[in-house]
Amino acid sequence: MSDSLTITPEAVAAAVQDALAAFTAAEDTAALKAARAAHAAEASPLAKLNASLRSVAPENKAEFGKLVGQARGEVNRAFTEREEQLAQAETAARLEAERIDITAVASRTRVGARHPLTLLQEQISDIFVGMGWEIAEGPELEHEWFNFDSLNFDVDHPARQMQDTFFVDPVERHLVMRTHTSPVQMRTMLERDVPIYALCPGRVYRTDEFDATHLPVFSQFEGIVVDKGITMAHLKGTLDHAAKVLFGPEAKTRFRTNYFPFTEPSAELDLWHPTFKGGARWIEWGGCGMINPNVLRAAGLDPEVYSGFAFGMGIERTLMFRSDVQDMRDMAEGDVRFSEQFGMVV
Ligand code: PHE
Repeated sequence: MSDSLTITPEAVAAAVQDALAAFTAAEDTAALKAARAAHAAEASPLAKLNASLRSVAPENKAEFGKLVGQARGEVNRAFTEREEQLAQAETAARLEAERIDITAVASRTRVGARHPLTLLQEQISDIFVGMGWEIAEGPELEHEWFNFDSLNFDVDHPARQMQDTFFVDPVERHLVMRTHTSPVQMRTMLERDVPIYALCPGRVYRTDEFDATHLPVFSQFEGIVVDKGITMAHLKGTLDHAAKVLFGPEAKTRFRTNYFPFTEPSAELDLWHPTFKGGARWIEWGGCGMINPNVLRAAGLDPEVYSGFAFGMGIERTLMFRSDVQDMRDMAEGDVRFSEQFGMVV
């Protein structure tokens, strides 16, 4: 069998040259492995030369042994070297192929911000819903009867005048942009069964100037309760609770006598604002009172059996002194930079 070759320095050098040339020619790891199989593994010329050491004359054994040993060492080193080269080249090629340009500008969508009035209105609604109240709504374009007559306003009450109220053409239809949320008192009493515990937040309209403390369109929240045995103490307790949730545990309310046609007795409602920017103080917050018996009667309820209370506050005003907003017009102009300052919660 031709398992052995005759060892000569030339034959060994040729086998080494062939192996090195094959390694260099290999262009990837797979080709390199094939080259090793052909030139360094069993059955390769070098292996055969090694095997033929057995038949070398004893006096030449040491010399040829050394020759073949060196040759195999050289081939192995060349293999390892080429293997490393190819591995590095392959890694570099893969990195290049999978490269991501992190300097590219990402397209970004701005999330915007919810309007602070919406947030505050929701927070106020939550306070009352948390006490088991319902949310009630009414139309902004309202019949004069709901806005005024049913609420016990005289025909010639000054609030009805053109200087205060937006009347909608044709005037004979008696439609107005509601001037307050109080018409929802009457709508709620007509639409729902007693007992009633309802909160109505919503937009109202007055022919006011557009300035730092007035908007011709603004928002109010109206509270209305009708049940048996309701007293002014319930009204006070309810308002104190809402004040504390919105303005902290030291907040409270106080009443000053006032007049509204639809409540009797009526009160101006002041809020003790413990964390007001310029120092703790009383601030006018809204109006309130016990529902006038005439109003209960207009809703078909017997004032001898039922009593109730109502209150109404401005939401823009509340936001102003709660969050130290200097100019109410910022709330109407819709600049997102204003809204963003409030984040997602008030
Ligand atoms: N509607 C009144 C206003 O806008 C406020 C108010 C509501 C007063 C309920 C008493 C009861 O000024």
